[in-house]
Amino acid sequence: MPDTTDRFAWHPEPQLLDVRDADVSRAALEDLGRQAWATALDYLYDEAFRRAMGEPAGYADLRARFFGSTGGPAAAPTTPAATADLLAEFTERIAPHNLNSWHPRALSYFTPPPLMISIVGELLAQVINQGVDVWHAGPAAAFVEEEVIRWLCDLVGYGEGSFGLLASGGVMANFMGMALARDIHLRQILGATTAPRGAALENVRVYVSDQAHFSIGRALDELGFPPETLVAIESDDRFRLRASRVAAAVHLDRQDGHTPLAIAAVAGSTNTGSVDQIPELADLAEREGLWLHIDAAYGGAARLSARDAHRVPDLHRADSVTIDPHKWFFQAYDIGGLLVRDGRQLALTFSRSPEYYGAGGELDYYKLGFEGTRRFRALKLWMSWKSLGTEGFGRLIDMNDDVAAYLARRIRESDDFEMTPDEPELSVVCFRHVSGVAADDLDAHQHRLQVALEATGDGWLSTTTLRGSTWLRAGVVNYMTTERDIDRLLDTLRAVAPRST
Ligand SMILES: Cc1ncc(COP(=O)(O)O)c(C=O)c1O
Repeated sequence: MPDTTDRFAWHPEPQLLDVRDADVSRAALEDLGRQAWATALDYLYDEAFRRAMGEPAGYADLRARFFGSTGGPAAAPTTPAATADLLAEFTERIAPHNLNSWHPRALSYFTPPPLMISIVGELLAQVINQGVDVWHAGPAAAFVEEEVIRWLCDLVGYGEGSFGLLASGGVMANFMGMALARDIHLRQILGATTAPRGAALENVRVYVSDQAHFSIGRALDELGFPPETLVAIESDDRFRLRASRVAAAVHLDRQDGHTPLAIAAVAGSTNTGSVDQIPELADLAEREGLWLHIDAAYGGAARLSARDAHRVPDLHRADSVTIDPHKWFFQAYDIGGLLVRDGRQLALTFSRSPEYYGAGGELDYYKLGFEGTRRFRALKLWMSWKSLGTEGFGRLIDMNDDVAAYLARRIRESDDFEMTPDEPELSVVCFRHVSGVAADDLDAHQHRLQVALEATGDGWLSTTTLRGSTWLRAGVVNYMTTERDIDRLLDTLRAVAPRST
């Protein structure tokens, strides 16, 4: 008997542990791949395309179902189990209970069905398990990330000298963007010799719209700025931040002796997909000497579409841009990114020299951002981009924008739904069911509708609050969705509505 089964004989599948010898393990590993993929496809066709949200959908019911009679997490397993049993447990206990982004009427947060090639990229990245931090821990992976970052910089219109890095998502990218504003720009404004800390962070002002993602405010908080640093300015009737309102706030703040530091605009807001008025905000930032950060976590992908890129203009005028491929680039979680017009600023902000990394290489990502060990996130996007080409990506964006426009049209033509704003900026549509509902029950009605739709499994929408009112929110980042799905979704809402009034 070969050594391999001896050393791992305590396990039911020793060939999956000592995989050195292809004669012993390759067939077993190929079988593992077949079993795992078959399990994934069973999930896809038996569950994901069947229901948008698994059953039962409610927290307490599902918790009871998942944990069983103990009502809470089981003790860690002490003895080994065979893969077939684990896959069966996945199929039985996990596969039926998910928010299924594959479902054509799952129009949820910004969770897309991931491209199959992205899943393949994720698998390969996990097999080679590169820690893309110090260059030598992921030599080729670092170059793949550099290449993907180049493509993203080109996409937003950044020229030579720009750079960036991948991160867990928009929250982390926004955090790093605000760290740059503090350590590069505030230092410059204050004429300080070191990065500002402590009392130097008082009296600073950062301007956002009332539609900004919460992560901007949280980043400022965690970076040591006092709460009054964040100035949330009322957006216009299309939920966009206008430069005139920021200019007025900057003017008053200067009069009061405060230090305006940055505008953190959003290009594709979470609530409505609104795009702040970037060209005029960029002019203002230039005039006032403010750092311009653009959170294009979702909306940046519109640059992929030759037809619709104009809806997200002038990103290149920002000092830093957040862009999140795990939203509208249809990537498997997780992959977000921060792009910086002057790439040198990353190292100026984040560089450290721990003794255990020695002299380091040429491209040490741990010096360019907040994270240390970083997953090889770039591979799945690199493979997806090659697989689809920018043109292919653009087609998917166009399809989503068209579906959103169709939903908007159907709502405008109806007399039982209303929407806001009256035209989607990108692919988010906020709407609500109004017929037969008392004015003071409208908000509660939308919540009940959301729950009722979820229970049918036939579609999934979230809710959001806009100017104090509750709306259903369809975020279309799903390339499975067609106009027929939109018709069916509205019909299902109409069918469950009487039970929700
Ligand atoms: C505009 C915007 N910015 C940032 C984020 C945060 O991204 P993540 O949760 O992937 O970190 C989101 C998430 O929806 C978003 O919509």
